[in-house]
Amino acid sequence: MKQWWKQTTIYQIYPRSYQDSNGDGIGDIKGIISRLDYLKDLGIETIWISPMYVSPQKDFGYDIADYYHMDPIFGTVKEAFALIKAVHNRKMKIVFDMVLNHTSDEHAWFQESRSSTTNPKRDYYIWKKGKNGAPPNNWISMVGKPGWNYDEKTKEYYYSNFLSFQPDLNYRNPKVKEEMFNVMRFWMDKGVDGFRLDIFNSIYKDESFKDNPFSIRYLPTPDNNDEAYFQEKKYTLNLPENFKLAKEVRSLVEKYRHKPFLIGEVSGDDKTLKGFLGEKVDGLNLVFQFELIEFKFRADFFRRILLNNEIEFPAPFLPTYVFGNHDQKRSISKIDGHLEKAKLLAFFQLTARGIPIIYYGEEIGLLEGNISNQEGLDPIARQNRWVPDWLSKFLGIYLNRDNCRTPMSWDDSANNGFTSSKPWLPLSSDTKNRNVEIESKNPSSILNHYKSLLRIRNKERTLREGSIGLIDKWKEEKDLLAYEREWEDSKIQVYLNFGNFPREIYFDEAEYEILYKSYVADTFLLQSYSGMLLKKRKSKKWFSK
Ligand code: GLC
Ligand code: CA
Repeated sequence: MKQWWKQTTIYQIYPRSYQDSNGDGIGDIKGIISRLDYLKDLGIETIWISPMYVSPQKDFGYDIADYYHMDPIFGTVKEAFALIKAVHNRKMKIVFDMVLNHTSDEHAWFQESRSSTTNPKRDYYIWKKGKNGAPPNNWISMVGKPGWNYDEKTKEYYYSNFLSFQPDLNYRNPKVKEEMFNVMRFWMDKGVDGFRLDIFNSIYKDESFKDNPFSIRYLPTPDNNDEAYFQEKKYTLNLPENFKLAKEVRSLVEKYRHKPFLIGEVSGDDKTLKGFLGEKVDGLNLVFQFELIEFKFRADFFRRILLNNEIEFPAPFLPTYVFGNHDQKRSISKIDGHLEKAKLLAFFQLTARGIPIIYYGEEIGLLEGNISNQEGLDPIARQNRWVPDWLSKFLGIYLNRDNCRTPMSWDDSANNGFTSSKPWLPLSSDTKNRNVEIESKNPSSILNHYKSLLRIRNKERTLREGSIGLIDKWKEEKDLLAYEREWEDSKIQVYLNFGNFPREIYFDEAEYEILYKSYVADTFLLQSYSGMLLKKRKSKKWFSK
């Protein structure tokens, strides 16, 4: 079977917020099934769903207590199998989230592990004695808290690279690795088409347990957690053993005929990302590239991304394009909810060389919620209650992830068609205008723009597989980004106007035809914040004046 994932489009569903089917205010599996036709019609091939396994939900599913069953709030394991089948019936693919780094502290393994120092499961986690009444070393977690957690019962510390109720598994114990590989085998046997690997770069911790070196950096950024909170995470992130694990997991998935793929959540510079992908892309198939999370709405920003990808991640590497996820502020809210600008972002994402990853709601211009740090249910917000909203805004740090997780907006009924009762999180604003129903009827809506672009992308192999290059004539332009995709003898040109004014684009109509433009106006005038796709005509002969 060919490597289908190289041409796919990914759509992330945050299951709590997608569609509620039983009126408890929380999205669930049956709800997702009921929306698959919508996704098919949108033009999506692969859906990735955040974790739905049994979980105390302290980190809303990223704290797993049983990897073989679904949490009752989402449904049953039978319903999960039905979901897989329903996706496949529509010739779509389904990717599960896989949290390898840690379990919930309520997982049976951890319960056993913490019960005594001689328990056979003790070594499933990372336990250490303290040093003179203090933790074993200076390691801090990815969220800036002490990584070591003292456990009264056995008077030792266990390590957690994320939150303290998420104890890290010990991959130096071969049994642990085997157990987790079995979990992945189980789901691949059931037909799952791949995994999104949660904080994959955090899995191995250095055996020496040496102190991490000091760093002057305090705040992390979406694409750099390696130096933060005054620490260089030398011994706790991106270890060589972790690069090796990427290849092992790849060999595991390669055994399956349906060619599941792996996409890793990792952070670090390009060299680090390549460490996870492997020299011959024989590690993880893809990694999330998070630079777009901090995009500047400027042609040169996106030009730089394209150029850098061709230098650092040339074929057979495949770049990924991510504007948002369930941990980051929604992209549209970084451009003041501006729908035309958001359309241009989609234009870029769906026509550049690589894999687009759309976060639910982006296709309708869904806005961030308006929930304060104090009201947040998110454990990150809870641990930062004392930080006033103005301060986190001022520092540019995102402390309340509830805001990017508000319910999907399906129509303009009382709860946007998400639930028949009170939604678990308050709705975003302006959903009267920003919803699937209303936008479906409007030909120039952002939703129909996504649909058009996805339809073209699905049809034109050039956009999925072609090479990419800047168009020489326009490569110094301040407001205009112009690039060309090429595959065999087919060529598609992309023009994106990031400026406030319309631009004239002259092209030879005998040579090129307009495949799509995101505005209705004169052929040669590219409106502000608009884009245009030109396709090279097959043969000049067919064109007669
Ligand atoms: C990842 C997830 C995030 C979660 C964390 C711990 O960063 O995206 O939502 O809280 O890992 O599992
Ligand atoms: Ca429900």
